[in-house]
Amino acid sequence: MDALNEEIKRLTALGLHRRCVEGDIARVAGLTLEINTLKKQKNAVICAHVYQTPDIILGIGDLVGDSYKLADDCRKTAADIIVFCGVHFMAETAKILNPSKKVYVPSKNAGCSLSEAITGEDVRKLKAEHPGLPVVTYINTSAEVKAESDCIVTSANAEKILRKMYEKHDKVIFIPDRFMGTNLAKVLGKTPGKDIILWNGTCIVHEHLNPDLIKIYRQKYPGLVALAHAECPSDLIAAVDFMGGTGDMMRYVENTNAAAYLLLTECGFGELAKLKFPEKNFIAMCRLCPYMKSITLESVLTLLKDPNPEEVTVPADIAIRAKRSIDKMFELAA
Ligand code: 13P
Ligand code: SF4
Repeated sequence: MDALNEEIKRLTALGLHRRCVEGDIARVAGLTLEINTLKKQKNAVICAHVYQTPDIILGIGDLVGDSYKLADDCRKTAADIIVFCGVHFMAETAKILNPSKKVYVPSKNAGCSLSEAITGEDVRKLKAEHPGLPVVTYINTSAEVKAESDCIVTSANAEKILRKMYEKHDKVIFIPDRFMGTNLAKVLGKTPGKDIILWNGTCIVHEHLNPDLIKIYRQKYPGLVALAHAECPSDLIAAVDFMGGTGDMMRYVENTNAAAYLLLTECGFGELAKLKFPEKNFIAMCRLCPYMKSITLESVLTLLKDPNPEEVTVPADIAIRAKRSIDKMFELAA
C-alpha cells in the first residue's frame, strides 16, 4: 500500500491526476508500479514516442522523444530488452540498430499509413525509372524500403540532409510523404517533378488538418503562434508560423513566450505540452493516431508478463542494407 501511495504521489507531481477521472489515478498508479517493477527485473527499457498518452510517457517511459531521438537513444541503451511504445517502423529501426537485443511492440495494430504506402518493390521500380538518383527516405517506412534507400531522414533532419544531397546531386527521389516532400521542396527552392521525385504517401492524421482553423483561431486569440508538423498539407503550412517535427515543435514552445500556441499535429502532443508547460496556453487538435493509440498501459503490462511475447524481427540481409541507410542519416545529421 505504501508503494502504491508513493506511486500515486509521483504521478500526481507529474500532473497526471489532471487527466484522470476521479479515483482513476490509483488504477493508473497500480499499472505503472507493476510495469516499472517488471521492467527493472527484466532489464528492459521503455521507449515512448510523444504521441503516446501521458500516462505512458511520464509514468513508464525511459527514452522519450521524436523518431530521431528514439532511434539515437536506442543505439546507446544498455538494456537487454526494448519495449517500443510507438509504431512498428520505429521498433524495426531499433531492432536494426540493436540486432542482439529483444525488441517488442505492445500492440499488433501499431502500423503507419505512410509506412504502408510504399513497398521495397515500388522503390526498385522508381530507381529503374530514375537511374542514378539518390533515394532519400523518411523513417516512416518498412525495413525493406529502407534497405532500398541511400539515406534515411526524420522530420528533425530532413531539410539539413536534403541540402547536403543537393550539394552533390541536381535531383533526388524523396519517399513516401508527398506533403513533407512538397513542403521541403518549397523551403529549398526546388520544384516537385523536376528537382525532386515524390511518392503519393500521406499521414492519415495530418492530411485532414484544416487550414481554416488557423484563421479562426488567430482572430479569436491575438498573439497566437501556429505550429505544424511537416507532414501537413502545403496549404496549411503556408499559413503557419513554424513547421517542423515534434521535437522541433516542443523546443519552439519551450523557448518562446507566445500568448497561445496552436498545435497542428496529433492530439497526444498537445496533451503532453499542456502537462509540461502548465503556465502556457495551448489549442491542441482532436485528431489521434489510431496506430499510436493502440498501445495502452494494460497492453504494456500484458507484454511484460507474457513468457513468450512475439519479437520484432528483421531478416539479416534486409537489416544490413537498411542499417547502411540509417547510419548515413546519423552521419549527415550530426
Ligand atoms: P516525429 O519524428 O516528428 O516525432 O514524427 C513521427 C511521426 O510519425 C509523425 O507523425
Ligand atoms: Fe504514421 Fe501519421 Fe500515425 Fe505518425 S501520426 S505514426 S505518420 S499514421
